Amino acid sequence: MDNKRELATLGVRAGQVRSQFGEHAEALFLTSSFVFDNAAQAAARFAGGEDGMVYTRYTNPTVSMFQDRLAALEGAETCVATASGMAAILATAMVHLKSGEHVVCSNAVFGATIQLFSGILARFGIQTSFVSPTKIEEWQKAVRPTTKLFFLETPSNPLTEVCDIAALSAVARTAGALLAVDNVFCTPALQRPLELGADIVIHSATKYLDGQGRVLGGAVVGSKALVGDVLVPFLRTAGPTLSPFNAWVLLKGLETLDLRMRAQSAAAMELARWLERHPAVARVHYPGLASHPQHELARRQQRAAGSVLSFEVKGGRAAAWRVIDSTQLLSITANLGDVKTTIIHPASTTHGRISAEARAAAGITEGLLRVAVGLEALADLQADLERGLALG
Ligand SMILES: Cc1ncc(COP(=O)(O)O)c(C=O)c1O
Repeated sequence: MDNKRELATLGVRAGQVRSQFGEHAEALFLTSSFVFDNAAQAAARFAGGEDGMVYTRYTNPTVSMFQDRLAALEGAETCVATASGMAAILATAMVHLKSGEHVVCSNAVFGATIQLFSGILARFGIQTSFVSPTKIEEWQKAVRPTTKLFFLETPSNPLTEVCDIAALSAVARTAGALLAVDNVFCTPALQRPLELGADIVIHSATKYLDGQGRVLGGAVVGSKALVGDVLVPFLRTAGPTLSPFNAWVLLKGLETLDLRMRAQSAAAMELARWLERHPAVARVHYPGLASHPQHELARRQQRAAGSVLSFEVKGGRAAAWRVIDSTQLLSITANLGDVKTTIIHPASTTHGRISAEARAAAGITEGLLRVAVGLEALADLQADLERGLALG
């Protein structure tokens, strides 16, 4: 398969290897181990002298197909799949950092990522400085002689702030650090961080890569030297590999990725415009709107603005909860990346454990609602939100 083809084609075709049966759809190799022809072959496979399957914690044909397809979509040399998105971030940290080293991380990344760096990795002597996703000077100032990794997520959740990947990759390079980008919200259908100078791309495949909320999975994407050569031995030994069943589901998810991301982004754009005009709404955060502070950057960096938006209703928490409680169609859940539209009140859920002052400083107001737009008809989504918004 020529990996220079269009994204839509790569999503459907890249990475597929057919077995001797000539199956049309990708085969699911639901097996924990593989048999050898004889003792010499077993010895050669274990020693690495002969290519071939040994054990699914090391390699599996269905997992390899998923890895090759995602690598093609990101325009990367290698992809290594992991059991979840958090396993992808943990594995990246484990292979690229050691005690005494330092990380500069956006303060607007997924909550578990913050816990991983500030809690778990700190216990192993790895220090992390958290900085604004949009203020480049804060990243520059945070650099220490021991800084080895920059980590960011763009657009951020729930305020959709956009980090300048190219500018931060230049700062990271000067600092002698790697830049890792969590590409969960855009996926390669909308943003290819490696082309903008990132060294490593992280995925929670659980979100848009699956797209239908079925399985957990993750991936690390990049060069053979920074990803394949170091992560494959790590996963083989440490164990958080992707299950073949989940890889098979994710392969099917990738086939519709381009289509879904375009459609969900287009619907989010329309919903954002409608909300911005709505008298009960004080503010809408969506990179596709001209009112967004990084609108121009998002236009340069992303193919479309994505499916996640947030908005502040007038009337604080009571009004925001009224909107949620008046929905009949939207799923009230913190998850996203699904064809089913979801809604959540960040201040009392995803950001509920941080102090009211820290929340206010981060812009997570009491009236803020986050919506991850799916594939239902726009008119039905608007009607579902209007019911609560009309209550004022
Ligand atoms: C941006 C981002 N990164 C990483 C993760 C973690 O992924 P997983 O739940 O697959 O471990 C999530 C999960 O919501 C996420 O939203």
